Amino acid sequence: MKNIEAEFKKTYRHPVFDVRGVHRADEVLPETDSQQPRHADCVDCHNPHQLTYSNKFAGIKVRRVGNVVSSATKEYDLCFKCHAESANLPGRFANKRSEFALTNPSFHPVEGEGKNTAVVSLLKPYKEKKVNASDVSTISCDDCHGSESASSPRGPHGSMNEHILVDNFSTRDNQPESPFAYALCYRCHNRDSILGNESFKFHSLHIQGTGGTAGANGTSCYTCHDSHGSVDNKYLIKFNQTVVFPNSAGMLKFVEKGIATFHGECYLSCHGVDHNPKSY
Ligand code: HEC
Ligand code: HEC
Ligand code: HEC
Ligand code: HEC
Ligand code: HEC
Repeated sequence: MKNIEAEFKKTYRHPVFDVRGVHRADEVLPETDSQQPRHADCVDCHNPHQLTYSNKFAGIKVRRVGNVVSSATKEYDLCFKCHAESANLPGRFANKRSEFALTNPSFHPVEGEGKNTAVVSLLKPYKEKKVNASDVSTISCDDCHGSESASSPRGPHGSMNEHILVDNFSTRDNQPESPFAYALCYRCHNRDSILGNESFKFHSLHIQGTGGTAGANGTSCYTCHDSHGSVDNKYLIKFNQTVVFPNSAGMLKFVEKGIATFHGECYLSCHGVDHNPKSY
């Protein structure tokens, strides 16, 4: 018998035992009242009477765009119940439905295959487009969110890693690069390819920095990339605006030069280095 309760004792977890007694049978998520307490009970995510092997989320009512209420069939339908249009989303959280939308310039391929056909760092079995039966071209929230231990029950119940992640991922600026610091990304993206600058020719300069002296450490993937999707740019580019600021001309933007050419321009200021623009 797998121990679910142990998952909810971990530092990072869904607040099942933290917020008690607020689930109601007649409630309709997403919450429309910003004052409503945020919660997640077992029964918000599981319907013990209706679940089947082919649809583990059967009987879970979700609301899609246009307010159509129907039963969840995909894991992400379930997640969007509370992480999309909810009026009570905590400030630092973003609407996940809009981050993963297939209409965005870029997104991790959860709802469907991605738009970039030259993701040169991808490790097997991951592929941009599915060609052979063994290729994996779409991923799920569960591939990144869940227990840190492969022997734990499946599902994003709890983890020892921040943000309930299956592997460590540091979002901090000015820290040394290591296989551990960005372990989550290196599950699917070859570290040698990224640090070997196979796509962005200044990856290693930014990620590893110029050496161990104070202020010369590298920065996180998170400084330039969003882990979910970007409504503005290709390549999941979304600058972390606690580290990256407008340049001397007041501009903060990324411009691509051609498609899959690995050339672009950045207009921004970071660590006092003016990019007006800097090109690659
Ligand atoms: C019934 C509501 C509900 C559902 C459904 C739900 N969550 Fe959550 N989730 C929460 C609440 C409440 C929190 C605590 C933080 C907050 O208020 O957003 C949370 C926190 C999280 C966090 C931690 C965020 C952080 O930075 O600490 C992650 C990751 C997460 N959820 C992923 C998921 C995924 C993946 C799914 C779908 C499998 C899902 N959630 C479904 C309510 C829900
Ligand atoms: C490729 C890996 C990956 C996938 C796939 C992924 N996440 Fe995340 N998620 C992360 C990382 C890394 C963070 C922490 C950094 C950040 O906040 O972006 C995070 C943070 C979060 C947070 C807290 C911060 C925020 O942005 O609101 C929530 C909630 C969340 N994810 C929900 C989801 C849901 C729901 C799905 C599926 C629809 C999903 N994630 C798919 C990697 C992923
Ligand atoms: C935020 C949503 C959420 C909450 C809250 C939640 N679960 Fe889950 N649970 C999931 C998801 C998603 C899966 C993975 C389903 C799959 O196999 O794809 C899962 C899987 C499971 C499994 C199967 C594990 C395995 O290894 O096959 C069990 C058992 C389970 N949950 C029990 C519980 C219990 C008991 C609670 C309350 C204490 C709970 N869950 C709370 C989302 C949730
Ligand atoms: C200073 C900003 C910056 C940082 C930090 C950064 N990247 Fe990038 N990354 C880029 C840019 C710009 C591109 C687009 C290159 C192009 O034009 O194709 C890119 C492209 C990518 C791609 C797509 C092409 C490929 O190589 O497969 C992946 C994957 C990627 N980055 C992963 C990462 C990971 C993982 C980290 C952290 C270990 C990281 N990046 C850190 C700027 C950054
Ligand atoms: C479970 C596997 C998986 C994990 C973990 C993962 N990725 Fe990806 N990533 C993919 C796949 C598959 C694609 C290809 C999507 C496409 O073809 O557009 C991709 C594409 C990308 C791209 C290019 C997107 C575009 O549209 O140009 C970037 C940038 C990227 N990932 C960064 C990251 C970063 C940063 C992390 C860690 C936070 C990470 N990935 C973790 C599977 C993963």
